[in-house]
Amino acid sequence: MRLDKFICDCTGLTRSQAGKVIRQKLVTVNGELAKQPALQLKTTDKVSLDGEELELIGLRYIMMHKPAGYICSTDDPDHDTVFALMDEPLMERLHTVGRLDLDTTGMVLITDDGQWSHKISSPKHHCAKTYRVWLADPVPESAIAQFAEGIMLRGEKDLTKPAELVIVEPHQALLTISEGRYHQVKRMFAAIGNKVEKLHREQIGALPLDPDLEEGEYRYLTDEEVALFR
Ligand code: URA
Repeated sequence: MRLDKFICDCTGLTRSQAGKVIRQKLVTVNGELAKQPALQLKTTDKVSLDGEELELIGLRYIMMHKPAGYICSTDDPDHDTVFALMDEPLMERLHTVGRLDLDTTGMVLITDDGQWSHKISSPKHHCAKTYRVWLADPVPESAIAQFAEGIMLRGEKDLTKPAELVIVEPHQALLTISEGRYHQVKRMFAAIGNKVEKLHREQIGALPLDPDLEEGEYRYLTDEEVALFR
């Protein structure tokens, strides 16, 4: 890999900024001052910027327990984003896999691997997501069949895909859906005349929210967990 590209990948600097730090004599390769941005690096070469050795950051896969009041977006003028809860280098490369509403809590996956996140969020891949739902009114048994058959959401042309509803208590249910339409869970319950009072995502695919994560905490996924979505 070229020296300037390596500097960009490690630091988030642009190509021209990488060229500039080289011209400013801030870059060494194996202790020798580097002069050529196009220098081809060997895998064993040690590159330092301003005395600090640079290391490539591999693709990152993170699970967060999202609290209410944070938005799943990289930038929002009115609310804190989930990234405000994180302390990681090169945060601008990370994105959330799909979104939870501002008031929804639970599992959010965060990555800089676009292909991996597409596998989870694209409707083509039918990745199941399970939500615990607290409702204003008791959920009737008839809702189980309605959700399994599909619901016509307001303003849409197609029925929702079959969803599995488990009634836990009269005002509490578990709902598993395999799509990610806008406000889907709230709109499904609205379509049968109920109102979601609280919503919490417990599981994505075969991966449950880690019970050791408090609200606002996050951890890196294990290789096995990452592979669940490949
Ligand atoms: N469905 C909703 O209505 N809100 C969410 O945050 C997630 C799914």
